[in-house]
Amino acid sequence: MAVTVEKVAALCRRRGFVYPSSDIYGGLGSAYDYGHYGVLMRQNIRGEWWRSMVQERDDMVALDSAIILNPKVWEASGHLATFTDPLVDCRTCKLRFRADDLDHASCGRKPSKHPGETQDCDLTEARAFNLMFETHIGPVRDSASVAYLRPETAQGIFVNFKNVTSSLRVKPPFGIAQIGKSFRNEITPGNFIFRLREFEQMEMEFFVPPAEGPTWHAYWIEERRNWHVSLGLRESRVRLRRHEGDELSHYSEATSDVEYEFPIGWLELEGIAYRTSFDLDQHSEHSGTKLEWIGHEERYVPHVVEPAGGVDRFMLAFLCDAYHEEEVAGRERTVLRLHPRLAPVKAAVLPLIGKNADMVSHARRLYEELRRAMSAEYDEDAAIGKRYRRQDEIGTPWALTIDDQTLADGTVTIRDRDSLHQDRIPIDGAKDLLLDKLEQPWSPEE
Ligand code: GAP
Repeated sequence: MAVTVEKVAALCRRRGFVYPSSDIYGGLGSAYDYGHYGVLMRQNIRGEWWRSMVQERDDMVALDSAIILNPKVWEASGHLATFTDPLVDCRTCKLRFRADDLDHASCGRKPSKHPGETQDCDLTEARAFNLMFETHIGPVRDSASVAYLRPETAQGIFVNFKNVTSSLRVKPPFGIAQIGKSFRNEITPGNFIFRLREFEQMEMEFFVPPAEGPTWHAYWIEERRNWHVSLGLRESRVRLRRHEGDELSHYSEATSDVEYEFPIGWLELEGIAYRTSFDLDQHSEHSGTKLEWIGHEERYVPHVVEPAGGVDRFMLAFLCDAYHEEEVAGRERTVLRLHPRLAPVKAAVLPLIGKNADMVSHARRLYEELRRAMSAEYDEDAAIGKRYRRQDEIGTPWALTIDDQTLADGTVTIRDRDSLHQDRIPIDGAKDLLLDKLEQPWSPEE
Protein backbone atom coordinates (compact mmCIF):
# COMPACT_ATOMS: atom_id res chain seq x y z
CA MET A 1 0.00 0.00 0.00
CA ALA A 2 1.31 3.44 -0.91
CA VAL A 3 2.71 5.54 1.89
CA THR A 4 1.23 9.01 2.33
CA VAL A 5 2.33 11.90 4.53
CA GLU A 6 -1.04 11.57 6.31
CA LYS A 7 -0.33 7.94 7.22
CA VAL A 8 3.10 8.83 8.53
CA ALA A 9 1.65 11.73 10.52
CA ALA A 10 -1.03 9.48 12.00
CA LEU A 11 1.56 6.91 13.11
CA CYS A 12 3.73 9.69 14.55
CA ARG A 13 0.86 10.94 16.66
CA ARG A 14 -0.39 7.49 17.68
CA ARG A 15 3.05 6.28 18.72
CA GLY A 16 4.39 9.43 20.38
CA PHE A 17 6.80 10.77 17.75
CA VAL A 18 5.13 14.07 16.81
CA TYR A 19 2.10 15.94 18.19
CA PRO A 20 0.37 19.02 16.82
CA SER A 21 1.62 21.91 18.94
CA SER A 22 -0.73 23.60 21.45
CA ASP A 23 -3.09 20.74 20.63
CA ILE A 24 -5.64 21.42 23.39
CA TYR A 25 -6.06 24.96 22.05
CA GLY A 26 -6.72 23.77 18.53
CA GLY A 27 -3.07 23.76 17.46
CA LEU A 28 -1.00 26.45 15.79
CA GLY A 29 -0.51 26.42 12.02
CA SER A 30 2.42 24.21 11.10
CA ALA A 31 3.90 23.99 14.58
CA TYR A 32 4.66 20.57 16.03
CA ASP A 33 5.95 19.18 19.30
CA TYR A 34 8.14 16.11 19.39
CA GLY A 35 7.21 13.26 21.73
CA HIS A 36 9.50 10.67 23.32
CA TYR A 37 10.33 8.63 20.20
CA GLY A 38 10.54 11.76 18.05
CA VAL A 39 13.05 13.26 20.45
CA LEU A 40 15.14 10.06 20.40
CA MET A 41 15.05 9.86 16.61
CA ARG A 42 16.02 13.51 16.20
CA GLN A 43 18.94 13.01 18.57
CA ASN A 44 20.06 10.15 16.35
CA ILE A 45 19.78 12.24 13.16
CA ARG A 46 21.76 15.06 14.75
CA GLY A 47 24.23 12.53 16.14
CA GLU A 48 24.84 10.93 12.74
CA TRP A 49 25.30 14.32 11.09
CA TRP A 50 27.69 15.38 13.84
CA ARG A 51 29.62 12.13 13.67
CA SER A 52 30.22 12.40 9.93
CA MET A 53 30.66 16.19 9.72
CA VAL A 54 32.69 16.88 12.87
CA GLN A 55 33.73 13.88 14.94
CA GLU A 56 35.24 11.77 12.16
CA ARG A 57 37.04 14.65 10.43
CA ASP A 58 40.26 16.57 11.06
CA ASP A 59 39.14 19.71 9.28
CA MET A 60 36.01 20.72 11.19
CA VAL A 61 35.20 22.68 14.34
CA ALA A 62 31.92 23.31 16.15
CA LEU A 63 29.92 26.41 16.94
CA ASP A 64 26.67 27.24 18.72
CA SER A 65 25.81 30.88 18.03
CA ALA A 66 22.93 32.97 19.35
CA ILE A 67 19.50 32.95 17.72
CA ILE A 68 19.04 36.72 17.99
CA LEU A 69 22.02 38.48 16.44
CA ASN A 70 22.80 42.15 15.96
CA PRO A 71 20.26 43.29 13.31
CA LYS A 72 23.14 44.65 11.23
CA VAL A 73 24.05 41.03 10.49
CA TRP A 74 20.88 40.69 8.43
CA GLU A 75 21.45 43.96 6.63
CA ALA A 76 24.92 42.78 5.61
CA SER A 77 23.82 39.27 4.66
CA GLY A 78 21.14 40.63 2.34
CA HIS A 79 18.29 38.97 4.22
CA LEU A 80 16.54 42.23 5.10
CA ALA A 81 16.43 43.27 1.46
CA THR A 82 16.04 39.99 -0.36
CA PHE A 83 14.86 37.17 1.89
CA THR A 84 11.37 37.38 0.49
CA ASP A 85 8.78 35.24 -1.19
CA PRO A 86 6.42 36.70 -3.81
CA LEU A 87 2.94 36.73 -2.35
CA VAL A 88 -0.53 37.08 -3.87
CA ASP A 89 -3.85 37.46 -2.04
CA CYS A 90 -7.20 36.28 -3.35
CA ARG A 91 -9.82 38.98 -2.77
CA THR A 92 -12.60 36.36 -3.09
CA CYS A 93 -11.51 33.57 -0.76
CA LYS A 94 -9.21 35.78 1.34
CA LEU A 95 -6.37 33.28 1.18
CA ARG A 96 -2.71 34.04 0.56
CA PHE A 97 -0.45 32.10 -1.80
CA ARG A 98 3.12 32.05 -3.03
CA ALA A 99 2.97 33.50 -6.52
CA ASP A 100 5.71 31.13 -7.68
CA ASP A 101 3.91 28.03 -6.41
CA LEU A 102 0.29 28.42 -7.53
CA ASP A 103 0.37 25.04 -9.27
CA HIS A 104 0.81 23.27 -5.93
CA ALA A 105 -1.72 25.42 -4.01
CA SER A 106 -5.47 24.89 -3.66
CA CYS A 107 -7.86 27.81 -3.75
CA GLY A 108 -10.45 28.19 -1.00
CA ARG A 109 -13.45 27.30 -3.15
CA LYS A 110 -14.99 23.88 -3.65
CA PRO A 111 -14.36 21.81 -5.66
CA SER A 112 -10.83 22.97 -5.01
CA LYS A 113 -8.84 24.31 -7.95
CA HIS A 114 -5.51 26.05 -8.22
CA PRO A 115 -5.63 29.78 -7.35
CA GLY A 116 -6.49 31.79 -10.46
CA GLU A 117 -8.17 28.86 -12.21
CA THR A 118 -11.83 29.74 -11.58
CA GLN A 119 -13.69 32.78 -12.86
CA ASP A 120 -14.32 33.88 -9.25
CA CYS A 121 -10.63 33.99 -8.37
CA ASP A 122 -9.50 37.58 -7.94
CA LEU A 123 -5.76 37.59 -7.30
CA THR A 124 -3.77 40.70 -6.37
CA GLU A 125 -0.44 41.59 -7.97
CA ALA A 126 2.51 39.75 -6.41
CA ARG A 127 4.18 41.55 -3.50
CA ALA A 128 7.50 40.73 -1.81
CA PHE A 129 6.95 39.36 1.69
CA ASN A 130 9.94 39.19 4.04
CA LEU A 131 10.15 35.87 5.83
CA MET A 132 12.00 37.02 8.93
CA PHE A 133 10.28 37.00 12.31
CA GLU A 134 10.61 40.33 14.05
CA THR A 135 10.95 40.89 17.75
CA HIS A 136 12.05 43.75 20.03
CA ILE A 137 14.94 43.91 22.43
CA GLY A 138 14.35 45.68 25.73
CA PRO A 139 11.27 47.39 27.10
CA VAL A 140 10.67 49.94 24.31
CA ARG A 141 9.01 48.77 21.12
CA ASP A 142 10.27 51.18 18.50
CA SER A 143 12.24 50.93 15.29
CA ALA A 144 15.54 51.13 17.19
CA SER A 145 14.73 48.02 19.23
CA VAL A 146 13.79 45.78 16.30
CA ALA A 147 15.66 42.48 16.12
CA TYR A 148 15.09 39.22 14.23
CA LEU A 149 14.96 35.54 14.97
CA ARG A 150 17.62 34.04 12.68
CA PRO A 151 16.24 32.60 9.41
CA GLU A 152 19.40 30.47 8.99
CA THR A 153 22.22 29.41 11.29
CA ALA A 154 24.84 30.21 8.65
CA GLN A 155 25.29 33.91 9.48
CA GLY A 156 26.25 33.09 13.08
CA ILE A 157 29.15 31.15 11.57
CA PHE A 158 30.33 33.92 9.23
CA VAL A 159 30.32 36.59 11.92
CA ASN A 160 32.46 34.31 14.13
CA PHE A 161 35.07 33.67 11.42
CA LYS A 162 37.66 35.89 13.11
CA ASN A 163 36.99 34.47 16.58
CA VAL A 164 37.37 30.93 15.32
CA THR A 165 40.51 31.47 13.23
CA SER A 166 42.24 33.35 16.02
CA SER A 167 41.34 30.93 18.82
CA LEU A 168 41.50 27.47 17.24
CA ARG A 169 44.09 25.58 15.19
CA VAL A 170 42.39 25.82 11.79
CA LYS A 171 43.64 26.55 8.28
CA PRO A 172 41.69 26.51 5.01
CA PRO A 173 40.29 24.20 3.86
CA PHE A 174 38.36 23.84 7.09
CA GLY A 175 34.74 23.98 8.17
CA ILE A 176 32.59 25.32 11.00
CA ALA A 177 29.50 23.25 11.78
CA GLN A 178 26.46 24.17 13.79
CA ILE A 179 23.05 22.77 14.62
CA GLY A 180 20.27 24.98 15.86
CA LYS A 181 16.80 26.42 15.48
CA SER A 182 15.90 28.78 12.65
CA PHE A 183 12.68 30.68 12.07
CA ARG A 184 10.88 31.71 8.91
CA ASN A 185 7.45 33.25 8.58
CA GLU A 186 6.64 30.91 5.69
CA ILE A 187 3.58 31.92 3.66
CA THR A 188 2.62 28.39 2.81
CA PRO A 189 3.96 26.04 5.45
CA GLY A 190 2.57 22.54 5.43
CA ASN A 191 2.92 18.90 4.60
CA PHE A 192 3.38 17.96 8.22
CA ILE A 193 7.00 18.67 9.29
CA PHE A 194 8.27 19.35 5.75
CA ARG A 195 7.93 23.14 5.91
CA LEU A 196 7.68 24.70 9.35
CA ARG A 197 7.95 28.21 10.74
CA GLU A 198 10.23 27.03 13.53
CA PHE A 199 12.68 24.32 12.49
CA GLU A 200 16.12 23.03 13.18
CA GLN A 201 19.00 23.39 10.73
CA MET A 202 22.28 21.52 10.44
CA GLU A 203 24.66 23.73 8.50
CA MET A 204 28.35 23.75 7.78
CA GLU A 205 30.40 26.50 6.18
CA PHE A 206 33.57 25.16 4.54
CA PHE A 207 36.25 27.84 4.00
CA VAL A 208 38.65 27.12 1.14
CA PRO A 209 41.31 28.86 -0.99
CA PRO A 210 39.30 30.57 -3.79
CA ALA A 211 40.78 28.46 -6.58
CA GLU A 212 39.61 25.28 -4.84
CA GLY A 213 35.95 26.38 -4.53
CA PRO A 214 34.45 24.41 -7.44
CA THR A 215 36.32 21.22 -6.48
CA TRP A 216 35.11 21.36 -2.88
CA HIS A 217 31.60 22.14 -4.06
CA ALA A 218 31.58 18.93 -6.12
CA TYR A 219 33.08 17.02 -3.17
CA TRP A 220 30.40 18.13 -0.69
CA ILE A 221 27.53 17.45 -3.11
CA GLU A 222 28.70 13.84 -3.37
CA GLU A 223 29.43 13.48 0.36
CA ARG A 224 26.02 14.71 1.37
CA ARG A 225 24.14 12.57 -1.14
CA ASN A 226 26.03 9.52 0.10
CA TRP A 227 25.27 10.36 3.73
CA HIS A 228 21.52 10.18 3.11
CA VAL A 229 21.84 6.88 1.27
CA SER A 230 24.17 5.42 3.92
CA LEU A 231 21.46 6.06 6.50
CA GLY A 232 18.90 4.08 4.57
CA LEU A 233 17.15 6.35 2.06
CA ARG A 234 16.55 4.21 -1.01
CA GLU A 235 18.91 5.22 -3.83
CA SER A 236 16.05 5.26 -6.32
CA ARG A 237 14.38 7.99 -4.28
CA VAL A 238 17.39 10.27 -3.96
CA ARG A 239 18.66 12.50 -6.75
CA LEU A 240 20.73 15.62 -7.30
CA ARG A 241 19.34 18.72 -8.99
CA ARG A 242 21.30 21.78 -10.02
CA HIS A 243 19.60 25.17 -9.57
CA GLU A 244 18.92 27.14 -12.73
CA GLY A 245 20.15 30.75 -12.93
CA ASP A 246 17.04 32.59 -11.69
CA GLU A 247 16.49 30.04 -8.93
CA LEU A 248 19.84 30.76 -7.26
CA SER A 249 19.82 32.54 -3.90
CA HIS A 250 21.31 36.02 -3.81
CA TYR A 251 24.54 34.70 -2.23
CA SER A 252 25.11 31.68 -4.42
CA GLU A 253 27.18 31.13 -7.54
CA ALA A 254 26.03 27.53 -7.86
CA THR A 255 23.72 25.32 -5.80
CA SER A 256 22.75 21.68 -6.07
CA ASP A 257 19.99 20.16 -4.02
CA VAL A 258 19.85 16.63 -2.74
CA GLU A 259 16.21 15.84 -3.48
CA TYR A 260 14.08 13.04 -2.08
CA GLU A 261 10.97 11.60 -3.66
CA PHE A 262 8.49 12.32 -0.86
CA PRO A 263 4.94 10.94 -1.28
CA ILE A 264 4.09 14.48 -2.45
CA GLY A 265 6.81 14.53 -5.10
CA TRP A 266 10.52 15.27 -5.56
CA LEU A 267 11.49 18.00 -3.11
CA GLU A 268 14.59 19.55 -1.59
CA LEU A 269 16.10 17.69 1.30
CA GLU A 270 19.33 19.64 1.51
CA GLY A 271 21.04 22.40 -0.47
CA ILE A 272 24.78 22.55 -1.18
CA ALA A 273 25.67 26.10 -2.17
CA TYR A 274 28.89 27.63 -3.45
CA ARG A 275 28.69 31.00 -1.66
CA THR A 276 32.10 32.26 -2.89
CA SER A 277 33.39 35.09 -0.64
CA PHE A 278 29.99 36.83 -0.65
CA ASP A 279 29.28 36.61 3.08
CA LEU A 280 32.78 37.33 4.39
CA ASP A 281 33.01 40.32 2.00
CA GLN A 282 29.64 41.65 3.08
CA HIS A 283 30.41 41.36 6.79
CA SER A 284 33.87 42.88 6.30
CA GLU A 285 32.31 45.86 4.57
CA HIS A 286 29.42 46.36 7.00
CA SER A 287 31.30 45.71 10.24
CA GLY A 288 34.61 47.33 9.37
CA THR A 289 36.37 44.15 10.57
CA LYS A 290 38.36 42.51 7.78
CA LEU A 291 37.40 38.87 7.60
CA GLU A 292 40.22 37.11 5.79
CA TRP A 293 42.68 34.29 6.17
CA ILE A 294 46.19 35.41 7.05
CA GLY A 295 48.79 32.67 6.70
CA HIS A 296 52.59 32.84 6.91
CA GLU A 297 53.01 33.89 3.30
CA GLU A 298 49.48 34.46 2.11
CA ARG A 299 46.44 36.55 2.76
CA TYR A 300 43.06 36.06 1.08
CA VAL A 301 39.30 35.99 1.62
CA PRO A 302 38.32 32.31 1.56
CA HIS A 303 35.51 31.01 -0.58
CA VAL A 304 32.73 29.08 1.09
CA VAL A 305 30.89 25.86 0.29
CA GLU A 306 27.80 25.26 2.41
CA PRO A 307 25.86 22.02 2.88
CA ALA A 308 22.62 23.06 4.63
CA GLY A 309 19.94 20.65 5.77
CA GLY A 310 17.20 20.41 8.37
CA VAL A 311 16.53 17.88 11.13
CA ASP A 312 12.74 18.01 10.68
CA ARG A 313 12.82 17.51 6.92
CA PHE A 314 15.39 14.70 7.17
CA MET A 315 13.21 13.04 9.78
CA LEU A 316 10.19 13.17 7.46
CA ALA A 317 12.21 11.63 4.62
CA PHE A 318 13.57 8.84 6.84
CA LEU A 319 10.06 8.13 8.17
CA CYS A 320 8.44 8.09 4.72
CA ASP A 321 11.14 5.79 3.39
CA ALA A 322 10.86 3.45 6.37
CA TYR A 323 7.05 3.25 6.55
CA HIS A 324 5.64 -0.08 5.36
CA GLU A 325 2.28 -1.76 5.69
CA GLU A 326 2.37 -5.48 5.03
CA GLU A 327 0.61 -8.74 5.77
CA VAL A 328 2.39 -11.28 7.93
CA ALA A 329 0.74 -14.65 8.58
CA GLY A 330 -2.64 -13.26 7.61
CA ARG A 331 -2.34 -10.22 9.87
CA GLU A 332 -1.57 -6.61 9.00
CA ARG A 333 1.57 -5.09 10.37
CA THR A 334 2.89 -1.57 10.10
CA VAL A 335 6.63 -1.38 10.40
CA LEU A 336 9.20 1.39 10.32
CA ARG A 337 12.26 -0.04 8.60
CA LEU A 338 14.59 2.62 9.93
CA HIS A 339 18.35 2.33 9.80
CA PRO A 340 19.19 0.83 13.22
CA ARG A 341 21.30 3.85 14.11
CA LEU A 342 18.32 6.14 13.49
CA ALA A 343 15.78 3.96 15.26
CA PRO A 344 14.60 5.60 18.50
CA VAL A 345 14.93 2.31 20.40
CA LYS A 346 17.60 -0.22 19.43
CA ALA A 347 16.45 -3.20 21.46
CA ALA A 348 13.31 -4.29 23.28
CA VAL A 349 13.64 -6.83 26.07
CA LEU A 350 10.52 -8.93 26.55
CA PRO A 351 9.88 -11.65 29.13
CA LEU A 352 7.67 -14.17 27.30
CA ILE A 353 5.39 -14.42 30.34
CA GLY A 354 5.13 -11.15 32.24
CA LYS A 355 3.93 -12.91 35.38
CA ASN A 356 6.88 -15.31 35.57
CA ALA A 357 9.20 -13.85 38.24
CA ASP A 358 12.31 -15.66 36.94
CA MET A 359 11.75 -14.49 33.37
CA VAL A 360 11.10 -10.96 34.61
CA SER A 361 14.28 -10.82 36.68
CA HIS A 362 16.41 -12.16 33.78
CA ALA A 363 14.77 -9.68 31.43
CA ARG A 364 15.24 -6.72 33.78
CA ARG A 365 18.90 -7.62 34.26
CA LEU A 366 19.51 -7.76 30.52
CA TYR A 367 17.54 -4.56 29.92
CA GLU A 368 19.50 -2.68 32.58
CA GLU A 369 22.77 -3.87 31.04
CA LEU A 370 21.69 -2.84 27.52
CA ARG A 371 20.36 0.58 28.45
CA ARG A 372 23.78 1.64 29.71
CA ALA A 373 25.06 1.24 26.14
CA MET A 374 22.07 2.09 23.93
CA SER A 375 18.45 3.15 23.96
CA ALA A 376 16.52 0.07 25.09
CA GLU A 377 13.01 -0.67 26.25
CA TYR A 378 11.48 -3.24 28.62
CA ASP A 379 7.93 -4.43 28.03
CA GLU A 380 6.01 -7.15 29.88
CA ASP A 381 2.45 -6.01 29.07
CA ALA A 382 0.15 -7.88 26.67
CA ALA A 383 0.66 -10.94 24.48
CA ILE A 384 4.08 -11.31 22.88
CA GLY A 385 2.71 -10.78 19.35
CA LYS A 386 1.21 -7.47 20.36
CA ARG A 387 4.46 -6.38 21.97
CA TYR A 388 6.37 -7.22 18.77
CA ARG A 389 3.88 -5.15 16.73
CA ARG A 390 4.34 -2.20 19.07
CA GLN A 391 8.09 -2.34 18.58
CA ASP A 392 7.70 -2.77 14.79
CA GLU A 393 5.67 0.43 14.63
CA ILE A 394 8.37 2.47 16.34
CA GLY A 395 11.09 0.82 14.25
CA THR A 396 12.95 -1.15 16.94
CA PRO A 397 15.37 -3.34 14.96
CA TRP A 398 15.82 -6.11 17.53
CA ALA A 399 13.59 -7.73 20.15
CA LEU A 400 15.16 -10.04 22.74
CA THR A 401 12.78 -12.51 24.33
CA ILE A 402 13.37 -14.30 27.61
CA ASP A 403 11.60 -17.68 27.77
CA ASP A 404 11.79 -21.06 29.51
CA GLN A 405 14.92 -21.99 27.63
CA THR A 406 16.67 -18.86 28.91
CA LEU A 407 16.19 -20.12 32.44
CA ALA A 408 17.61 -23.51 31.45
CA ASP A 409 20.60 -22.57 29.26
CA GLY A 410 21.14 -18.80 29.41
CA THR A 411 20.18 -18.08 25.80
CA VAL A 412 17.59 -15.63 24.46
CA THR A 413 15.85 -15.29 21.13
CA ILE A 414 16.71 -12.28 19.02
CA ARG A 415 14.03 -11.30 16.50
CA ASP A 416 14.93 -9.23 13.49
CA ARG A 417 12.36 -6.51 12.70
CA ASP A 418 12.77 -6.76 8.92
CA SER A 419 13.24 -10.46 8.16
CA LEU A 420 11.28 -11.60 11.24
CA HIS A 421 13.98 -14.22 11.56
CA GLN A 422 14.61 -15.47 15.11
CA ASP A 423 17.95 -16.76 16.41
CA ARG A 424 19.10 -17.95 19.81
CA ILE A 425 22.11 -16.20 21.29
CA PRO A 426 23.83 -16.35 24.69
CA ILE A 427 22.42 -13.68 26.99
CA ASP A 428 25.94 -12.77 28.09
CA GLY A 429 27.03 -11.77 24.61
CA ALA A 430 23.84 -9.89 23.69
CA LYS A 431 25.10 -6.37 24.38
CA ASP A 432 28.33 -6.79 22.36
CA LEU A 433 26.43 -8.43 19.52
CA LEU A 434 24.04 -5.48 19.28
CA LEU A 435 26.84 -2.92 19.51
CA ASP A 436 28.57 -4.76 16.70
CA LYS A 437 25.38 -4.83 14.58
CA LEU A 438 24.97 -1.07 15.07
CA GLU A 439 28.35 -0.51 13.43
CA GLN A 440 27.50 -2.64 10.38
CA PRO A 441 26.35 -1.04 7.11
CA TRP A 442 22.62 -1.37 6.61
CA SER A 443 20.48 -0.80 3.55
CA PRO A 444 16.79 -1.29 2.88
CA GLU A 445 15.39 -3.56 0.18
CA GLU A 446 14.70 -1.47 -2.93
N1 GAP B 1 21.93 28.70 4.81
C1 GAP B 1 21.28 28.26 3.63
C2 GAP B 1 19.89 27.88 3.84
O1 GAP B 1 19.32 28.15 4.89
P1 GAP B 1 17.83 26.74 2.71
O2 GAP B 1 17.78 25.90 1.45
O3 GAP B 1 16.90 27.87 2.80
O4 GAP B 1 19.35 27.21 2.80
C3 GAP B 1 18.48 24.67 4.15
O5 GAP B 1 17.64 25.79 3.95
C4 GAP B 1 17.68 23.48 4.62
O6 GAP B 1 16.95 23.81 5.81
C5 GAP B 1 16.61 22.98 3.64
O7 GAP B 1 17.18 22.14 2.67
C6 GAP B 1 15.68 22.21 4.57
O8 GAP B 1 16.21 20.94 4.88
C7 GAP B 1 15.72 23.08 5.82
N2 GAP B 1 14.60 24.04 5.82
C8 GAP B 1 14.55 25.26 5.23
N3 GAP B 1 13.36 25.84 5.45
C9 GAP B 1 12.63 24.99 6.18
C10 GAP B 1 11.31 25.04 6.73
N4 GAP B 1 10.52 26.10 6.59
N5 GAP B 1 10.87 23.96 7.44
C11 GAP B 1 11.68 22.88 7.62
N6 GAP B 1 12.92 22.80 7.13
C12 GAP B 1 13.41 23.83 6.42
